[in-house]
Amino acid sequence: MLSAARRVASNPASLMRPMSALTHSALFSTSSSAMAPTNIKNITVFGSGLMGAGIVQVAAQNAFNVTMVDLNPAALQKGQDIITSSLKRVAKKQFPEDAEKQKEFIDQTMSRVKTSTDSEAASKDADLIIEAIVENLKTKQQLFAMLDKVAPEHTLFCSNTSSLPIADIAKATKRTDRFGGLHFFNPVPQMKLVEVIRTDATSQDSFDSLMDVCNRMKKTPVSCKDTPGFIVNRLLVPYMMESLRIVERGEATPQDVDVAMKLGAGFPMGPFELADFVGLDTMQYIVDGWRKEGKIDANLVAPVKLLDDLVAQGNFGRKSGQGFYSYSGVGGKK
Ligand code: 3HC
Repeated sequence: MLSAARRVASNPASLMRPMSALTHSALFSTSSSAMAPTNIKNITVFGSGLMGAGIVQVAAQNAFNVTMVDLNPAALQKGQDIITSSLKRVAKKQFPEDAEKQKEFIDQTMSRVKTSTDSEAASKDADLIIEAIVENLKTKQQLFAMLDKVAPEHTLFCSNTSSLPIADIAKATKRTDRFGGLHFFNPVPQMKLVEVIRTDATSQDSFDSLMDVCNRMKKTPVSCKDTPGFIVNRLLVPYMMESLRIVERGEATPQDVDVAMKLGAGFPMGPFELADFVGLDTMQYIVDGWRKEGKIDANLVAPVKLLDDLVAQGNFGRKSGQGFYSYSGVGGKK
């Protein structure tokens, strides 16, 4: 998720191609308060990391035409690789023992996926744009400000941010009524939930369209207000931070906390396994941001040296091969 995102962060201008005149769809109103599309067909996803690729996959599996955008062909290739390896798992489950049907399913899904490094061209037919790039407010604002000028009036804009206020991103555009959040969970093809975030400005039409898209992606949407962490991360991140404090105080080992939460609370992963899975740098970024924002009880987001030290050492969890646990190769198994 972060690797593609970081590339964007290091060079946000590269997503800002020269702008042409506004592109309009004849099918939709072009007034400044255009209605959100009721029948979304074409989705453009910015970012081809784990989250972006997962969203592309789920959309394509469910009959949407999808364009995946990133800065360069190598990044797009990585995204495509993520999709094909995940699709193989899904195909095997859907058509066990039937290699032909599996191949057909994968080919059909991939036939609905286009890739592009040209942000403007990739946006001109989009009914919905979902951004899954770096967790950096300025970078996201720059991207959306540019897209606001080149995407059709009816196009709905969404961010997959896990920690930034949607309203702050949306204010870089003139379509705050057609702007919301779609927060997916990792691994996107497997996790059923999507948080649908509405700001004070998100229109009912836009919100309804986003709920409809989630249902058509066979996900379960829940409605969220634009508050820090929405629902899931608001609960999950303080819980993971408290787990770190238990270990820092010497009260239990990470292994014992993980076993305890899996066998005692029925969680699929313990908090340390989950922290490694989400990325320790991502977790640190979220708590640091919330602390600065000051909207959450300071005790819940107080820094934990154990986390800060691991991140400073470049131990980000599964993605770097080392976190609380060691992994066989980057992104490998424990
Ligand atoms: N693509 C497709 N399917 C996948 C997949 C992928 N990338 N990864 C896992 N799966 C499927 C498998 O095919 C399998 O399906 P089945 O049960 O129907 O056969 C199922 O998921 C379980 O996979 P595995 O047997 O390989 O492995 P596990 O049983 O260990 O499950 C897990 C792996 C699904 C990751 C599970 O451990 C889990 O649910 N963990 C919790 C994940 C979680 O909490 N995610 C949210 C993180 S927070 C977040 O994303 C928000 C962000 O803003 C920070």
